Amino acid sequence: MIPPSTRLVAALDLGSTKVAAVIGEATGDIRSPGVKILGVGLERTPGIRRGVVRDIEETTRAITKAMKDAQLMAGVEVGTVYCGVAGEHVAGRSSHGVVSVTGAEIRTADVARVNDVASNVSYGRDHELLHAIPQDYLVDQQADVTDPIGMTGSRLEAEVYLVTVLSSALQNLRKCVERAGYHVGEFVLEPLGSSLATLTPDERDLGCALVELGGGSTHVSVFHGGKIRHSASLMFAGSHVTNDIVHGLQVTQLDAERIKHRFGAAYEPLVAEEDTFELQSTPGQGPRVAHRRVLAHIMRMRLQEILELAADELSRAGYQQRLPAGIILTGGGAQTPGIVELAREVFALPVRSGEPGENLTGLVDSVDTPRMAVGVGLTLFGAKQVALGSAFGAGGRRSPAVEKVLVPVMRWLQEFF
Ligand SMILES: Nc1ncnc2c1ncn2[C@@H]1O[C@H](COP(=O)(O)OP(=O)(O)OP(=O)(O)O)[C@@H](O)[C@H]1O
Ligand SMILES: [Mg+2]
Repeated sequence: MIPPSTRLVAALDLGSTKVAAVIGEATGDIRSPGVKILGVGLERTPGIRRGVVRDIEETTRAITKAMKDAQLMAGVEVGTVYCGVAGEHVAGRSSHGVVSVTGAEIRTADVARVNDVASNVSYGRDHELLHAIPQDYLVDQQADVTDPIGMTGSRLEAEVYLVTVLSSALQNLRKCVERAGYHVGEFVLEPLGSSLATLTPDERDLGCALVELGGGSTHVSVFHGGKIRHSASLMFAGSHVTNDIVHGLQVTQLDAERIKHRFGAAYEPLVAEEDTFELQSTPGQGPRVAHRRVLAHIMRMRLQEILELAADELSRAGYQQRLPAGIILTGGGAQTPGIVELAREVFALPVRSGEPGENLTGLVDSVDTPRMAVGVGLTLFGAKQVALGSAFGAGGRRSPAVEKVLVPVMRWLQEFF
């Protein structure tokens, strides 16, 4: 049976190595939204680098192909998608606001006002606000108020987490999606998506860090007290591991990527000393074999460096000692055998890899890898909006002009995180 279009949710993860499209049907209710996975499309592409479009034609082609495959698998057509955003052009920071309360008790309008004051800061040239996520409220200097509505007090303060993006980067992503024939219903910070797909409520509450090992960049985000508290992007990721293999084993980029997936490991003790594999060679090089231990050594050196940079980021943000639920690894790099063992050594914290699975039904086996965390998470984000009654409905096609009026880029994520 074809689900009603108001319950359809579609998502695009525009990564440095691939475009992933996920189509699902929102299930569950507001307390526990879920998604029935209907279709998935994956297309390799070099069109985007660290969240910035490098080649519009190529990215449009990849989006068209990934969406077509996902729709064919799902047996439905969609017009509007949730689209992930990440990269160095994305910045997150906390901001503080204060207002005086005029009535006898705090009303919704007072909360909206204090949120507005907190987010009314300069974002820097060419940047715009993507998300404003209320974190904590203080009433007459009493902290840890989660919902101040109805309380008595004369001074209301808010701590809001603001996520800003480079406007032109967003416009170019939107351009590619529209050229492929779809509309962006909403842009969503990628780690927010991944967190919905992989973190348990307890992890988010106790304190944990999500480390997304992508192809072009590594994203580090911190969740504490149920909310996102910090988010940063590091310049080193899977493509650097591949480059090291190119130089270390004298193979082409394509062969290095293939070898990494087939024989790679991030932890030498996991690989038997005598294990070898054949290397592709030029006629001049002649037949060659390499030890898997050597490959594991090359990969471990780079992955350890990346994880150490992530650990430094957590220390700088002041969270290294406040992550009892440990580290959750997502992204393609989290699929490297031995990465969990290596990360346990580096962080000296509990570590696990984050496979989407919770709150999912349907074709779950098509998305239950760390690499699909963003795409799946964005559909769960959509399902939550369906439950809240504020989704745009993936099935309906609107003209781009109408879309811009209906959906502002920034939306308060009060109910979300
Ligand atoms: N089984 C595997 N073993 C080792 N590495 C892997 C494996 N699967 C994927 N990768 C690596 O993961 C990286 C791609 O990850 P991912 O798909 O999360 O990145 P992306 O979303 O395209 O890029 P980004 O998020 O950085 O823009 C590549 O470097 C790829 O080689
Ligand atoms: Mg990615």
